[in-house]
Amino acid sequence: MRLDKFLCDCGYGTRSQVKQLVKKGRVTVNGAPCRQADLKIDEKNDRISVDGNECGYSQFVYYMFHKPAGCVCAVKDNVSRTVMEYLEKEDVKKDLFPVGRLDKDTEGLLLLTNDGALSHKLLSPKKHVPKTYYVKSKKALSKEDVKQLETGVDIGDEKKTLPASVEVLGQREIFLTISEGRFHQIKRMLFSVGNEVVYLKRVSMGGLHLDENLKPGEYRLLTGEEMERLC
Ligand code: URA
Repeated sequence: MRLDKFLCDCGYGTRSQVKQLVKKGRVTVNGAPCRQADLKIDEKNDRISVDGNECGYSQFVYYMFHKPAGCVCAVKDNVSRTVMEYLEKEDVKKDLFPVGRLDKDTEGLLLLTNDGALSHKLLSPKKHVPKTYYVKSKKALSKEDVKQLETGVDIGDEKKTLPASVEVLGQREIFLTISEGRFHQIKRMLFSVGNEVVYLKRVSMGGLHLDENLKPGEYRLLTGEEMERLC
């Protein structure tokens, strides 16, 4: 099999994207740098690495997507643009889905995968995977508001929200880290302290941080290190 075809199949991008990887010397074959994209490799016995991470055929792929505002976290939607519409043709075929949901007007980190078990693990309410949001509020947040958000607030559910952590960035700007994933949770938390979210962006989930080099609407494969931090 050709090296570029192998890299595409492993999820490293389109044929032209993987050719660039090879051209830049980021790919090694059996430990030796290789700049020949059409090299014939033995995919069962040769060791192929990208940036030092050995690639293997995996049935699963994992992408970090910078969700822009204005699209919905669904595979199909009759009305709104979906996150899937940002994928390259080759990736559409991989049966990807978003791990969890962000509101249509929320931006930021979204994991796209075809690994149902990992998705289940990350979303399980028992796991309490922390998620950090950059929040801009309509009005200034007082010290008391911050304390309430941290302690837990009544958002109209059976139970108050679990303790959260707040990093104050400005009068109307905070990082809010929650370990639950209730419907519209951040907006409802702000509402419970008499305020309103005017801008919301997820910046991290578990050990995974949004790569600020990714512009809204762009995505890339997770690195080996990011995979380890996530699992
Ligand atoms: N909380 C919200 O209110 N909206 C989101 O999109 C995510 C968390």
